[in-house]
Amino acid sequence: MSPFRARRERLLEAIGPRTAAVFVATANAIRNNDVEHDFRQDSDLFYLTGFDEPDAVVVLTQRAKLKLDDKDVEPRLTMFVRVRDPEREVWDGYRVGVEGAREQFGADLAFPIEELGKRLPELLLGHDALVYRWGNKAFDDKLFVAIQGARRTAGRSGARAPTRMFDPVETLHEQRLRKSEDELAHMRAACAITAEAHAKAMAIAAPGRYEHEIEAVLLETFRRRGAERAAYGSIVGSGPNGTILHYRKNDRRLEDGDLVLIDAGCELAYYASDVTRTFPANGRFTDVQRAAYEVVLEAELAAIELVKPGVTQGQLHQRAVEVLTRGLVKLGALEGDVEGLVKSEAYKPFYMHKTGHWLGMDVHDVGAYFAPKRGDDGVVGDELAQRPLEPGMVITIEPGLYFGIGADKAKPGEKGVKDWSHLRGIGIRIEDDILVTPDGHENLTRAIPKSVAEVEAACRG
Ligand code: GLY
Ligand code: MN
Ligand code: MN
Repeated sequence: MSPFRARRERLLEAIGPRTAAVFVATANAIRNNDVEHDFRQDSDLFYLTGFDEPDAVVVLTQRAKLKLDDKDVEPRLTMFVRVRDPEREVWDGYRVGVEGAREQFGADLAFPIEELGKRLPELLLGHDALVYRWGNKAFDDKLFVAIQGARRTAGRSGARAPTRMFDPVETLHEQRLRKSEDELAHMRAACAITAEAHAKAMAIAAPGRYEHEIEAVLLETFRRRGAERAAYGSIVGSGPNGTILHYRKNDRRLEDGDLVLIDAGCELAYYASDVTRTFPANGRFTDVQRAAYEVVLEAELAAIELVKPGVTQGQLHQRAVEVLTRGLVKLGALEGDVEGLVKSEAYKPFYMHKTGHWLGMDVHDVGAYFAPKRGDDGVVGDELAQRPLEPGMVITIEPGLYFGIGADKAKPGEKGVKDWSHLRGIGIRIEDDILVTPDGHENLTRAIPKSVAEVEAACRG
């Protein structure tokens, strides 16, 4: 069985025989005039089919019965796709088409996308619920019209029509959250490419170079080694730009004495990597930079160390916050009792984001962060709580310290804040991709230089 078919079967099993599921391809987005943005398929649709064309709808069913050419068909996978069109293919390239959907993608039924309105109501008949991520303005209405159509027929014939709708978060996204071996193979390969890119970036960075030159080296490595794209806009922030969390301009000239923060990862076969490293532009940390770097590194290592099944992301964040706060005292930015400073969130002007997120097909991957709390008696209650990690989940760990615009909220003399001006302009984040294993964890990006000595060596090239 192809991995895609196996995933569909698992989903159908999870949702039960009376529930159908509908997935819609990402729409082509206009960049300007008649030029389109690069297309990337919807992750759910790709996860279930491997199909990467726009203008497509995938319907999974277990109770649909259609009569086609006098034959009764009970499809499990139905695909609506663009038809072959030699005129358009001259301009835009090959299309899989209706036959290709059946032959190459294992569809039991395939129709031209134009037939969606006519066929969808028949496919929904026999089901009383639907898995669909509503909120897709262009598609919601079409689906509701199809449900109405199914309802009309059902009312007259005694068949079922959907009366309930579920978001895929409880079924498909739970499946996506736990990576299979074949998914992990893609993630490891993506991380290997990203590792090469970061090492290269450290080697070529030097005072006088521009941030965009370094971005070009990252992208060159990604594409040369076969990654389709960056998993998100690459961040190359030198000097004060390293304190801007989603810095994207990448147009500044590196100066002697700058730190350079690179947050970049490739996407390979639809799987993301997400890595941050911070290093000195001239290859040597100054004393104050090194001291701050070592605080962030200690926080990162301490949080990674804790990763194992049963631990929550909240606990990892808490651990990182404790180490960072102790470090802020050591660096002279805060003063007082560390526990009290953590409680009063005195660290927040210098560390304003969370310590990690799910990673997978999407860089900020799907999956619920909270789940209903189970009491000591094992009974599921009403309250939500941070969910425990499980083997096969992949997360990032990415603490940082930022002495930029955000830090100006920390006024020296106010509760716990000292004069931190000696740190101004420093922005540091260190980020790795961590797989939860049955006995602990595996750092998928451990090959990328990280200790002070490794980073300085990598900067020498
Ligand atoms: N690059 C986005 C993030 O680190 O979450
Ligand atoms: Mn990142
Ligand atoms: Mn991240």
